[in-house]
Amino acid sequence: MKSIAFSSGWLSLSLIILLTSVSAIPHNIPRLSVFDRTSLRDLSDTIPAFVWDDLETYFYNQTLDHFNYNPQSYAIFKQRYVINSKYWGGANKSAPIFVYLGAEAPIDGDIQFTGFLPENAPNFKALIVYIEHRFYGQSVPFGPVKKNQGYFSSAQAIADYAEVILYLKEKLSAHYSPVIVIGGSYGGMLASWFRLKYPHIALGALASSAPILYFDDIIPQNGYYSIVSKDFKEASESCYETIKQSWSVIDEVASQPNGLSTLSQRFNTCYPLSDSFELKDYLDGLYSRAAQYDRPPRYPVTVVCGGIDGAPNGTDILSRIFAGVVAATVNRSCYVNGHHNYSRDPYGDWDWQVSDNEVGDGGGSGPVMAAEFAVMVVMELDGSGNGTWL
Ligand SMILES: *[C@@H]1O[C@H](CO)[C@@H](O)[C@H](O)[C@H]1NC(C)=O
Ligand SMILES: *[C@@H]1O[C@H](CO)[C@@H](O)[C@H](O)[C@H]1NC(C)=O
Ligand SMILES: *[C@@H]1O[C@H](CO)[C@@H](O)[C@H](O)[C@H]1NC(C)=O
Ligand SMILES: *[C@@H]1O[C@H](CO)[C@@H](O)[C@H](O)[C@H]1NC(C)=O
Ligand SMILES: *[C@@H]1O[C@H](CO)[C@@H](O)[C@H](O)[C@H]1NC(C)=O
Ligand SMILES: *[C@@H]1O[C@H](CO)[C@@H](O)[C@H](O)[C@H]1NC(C)=O
Repeated sequence: MKSIAFSSGWLSLSLIILLTSVSAIPHNIPRLSVFDRTSLRDLSDTIPAFVWDDLETYFYNQTLDHFNYNPQSYAIFKQRYVINSKYWGGANKSAPIFVYLGAEAPIDGDIQFTGFLPENAPNFKALIVYIEHRFYGQSVPFGPVKKNQGYFSSAQAIADYAEVILYLKEKLSAHYSPVIVIGGSYGGMLASWFRLKYPHIALGALASSAPILYFDDIIPQNGYYSIVSKDFKEASESCYETIKQSWSVIDEVASQPNGLSTLSQRFNTCYPLSDSFELKDYLDGLYSRAAQYDRPPRYPVTVVCGGIDGAPNGTDILSRIFAGVVAATVNRSCYVNGHHNYSRDPYGDWDWQVSDNEVGDGGGSGPVMAAEFAVMVVMELDGSGNGTWL
C-alpha cells in the first residue's frame, strides 16, 4: 500500500506552537522540493455537520512558479480557498485570521476534520481561511500533472499561501489582523516553514503532529517503526510476538510450491497475490495505520491485537494474523487487495513527493515523514527498533 494520510488524529497529539519562539526551532530545515501524499482518510469518524455551515468557496488566480522569471512562470491556475467569516471580529477590530494550510489531499477532508479551528475561532473572533495545496483537489495546474510536476513543491506551496494571505488581507483591508498559520502533519511542517520563511506575514504557526525534526541525523533511522512496534508491544506482548514471527512464516509459505495461492486462500484475498511482498506491504500498512491513528474510541491497535490474540488456542500464526485483519477492517467479502487501489491517487502524488526528498527520504535513511507515512519505506516489524529493510 502506498498511501496513508493523516486524519484528525493529529489534533490529539502533541502541539508545537511556534509563536514568537522561532529561535527555538533548529534551523536545520530540510531542502524544499516537490512532494505530495495520499488522500486515504479515516472516514469512519463522524463528521460534525456544523463545519459545513458558513463556508464560502473561492478561487485565487495563483502564479504557477513563484521563483523563476520564465514566460511560463507567470501562468496561473485556480487555487481553491474556503472562508468561514462567521466568528470574525472584523478588520476594524484587528481580529485575527486563522489560516489552515492545506496538505497532501483535497481541502474538503481537512475542513471536515479540523474542528480545532471553528472551535477556537469564536474565542479569538477569528476569520478562518482554508487553502488547498497545489496539485490536490480542485487546485491542480493546467495540463497533465506530470508535465508541471516541477512546480509541485512545498516551497511553491507556501509561496502560494503567502500570496493568498496577502491578497485577502488587502481585499478585506485587514492590514492589522494578525495571521496564525495552522497545519497538521505535513501541513504542520508547512506551517512551521511558513513562519520561518514569511515571518512578516504570519505572526505565529501552530504545527500539530508535524514531524519537523524527522530528518537525517536527528532521529534514529527506524524511529517510525520502533514506535509502531512499541505500540503493539504495549497493547499486547503476545500480539507483538505473533506479528514478529509472522513475517518469516509468510516468506516460508510463499517459497513453497503454490505458496502464493496458499497465502491468497488463507487471507481470502480479492485477487491472487502476485508476490509475498504484496501481503506484507498490506499488513505493514495496516499495523502502521493502526498505530498512527490509535485513538479513542476505537483504538485500532487494540482491535487488531484483539483479533490476533482472540483466536482460539491452537490457531496458527497465519490464521491469527488474518483474524487481526478481519478485526481491523469493516465487513468485506475479500481482503488485502482489490478494495483500495493504492496505486492511484486521483489528486496528487504523495509518493512522488516523498521520494523526491521533499518531505522524506524514500530511500529510508532519512527524513521519512514519520508521523505521516510508513510505507514508502517498508520494513519488517521486528520490535527491536532495528527493522529489516525489505
Ligand atoms: C482570474 O483569471 C481569469 C482569467 O484570466 C479572469 O477572468 C478572472 O477575473 C481572474 N479572477 C480574479 C479573481 O482575479
Ligand atoms: C471600519 O472603519 C472604517 C473607517 O473608520 C469605516 O468606514 C467602516 O465602516 C468600518 N467598518 C466596519 C465593518 O465597521
Ligand atoms: C487459551 O489457553 C489459555 C491457557 O489454557 C487460557 O488462559 C486462555 O483463555 C485460552 N484462550 C482462548 C482464546 O481460548
Ligand atoms: C457485518 O456482517 C455481519 C454478518 O453478516 C452483520 O451482522 C454486521 O451487522 C455487519 N457489520 C457491519 C458494520 O456492516
Ligand atoms: C488499480 O489501478 C491501476 C492503475 O490504473 C490499474 O491498472 C489496476 O487495474 C487497478 N486495480 C484495481 C483492482 O482496480
Ligand atoms: C541491528 O541490526 C544490525 C545489522 O543487522 C545488527 O548488527 C545489530 O546487532 C542489530 N541490533 C539489534 C538491537 O538487534
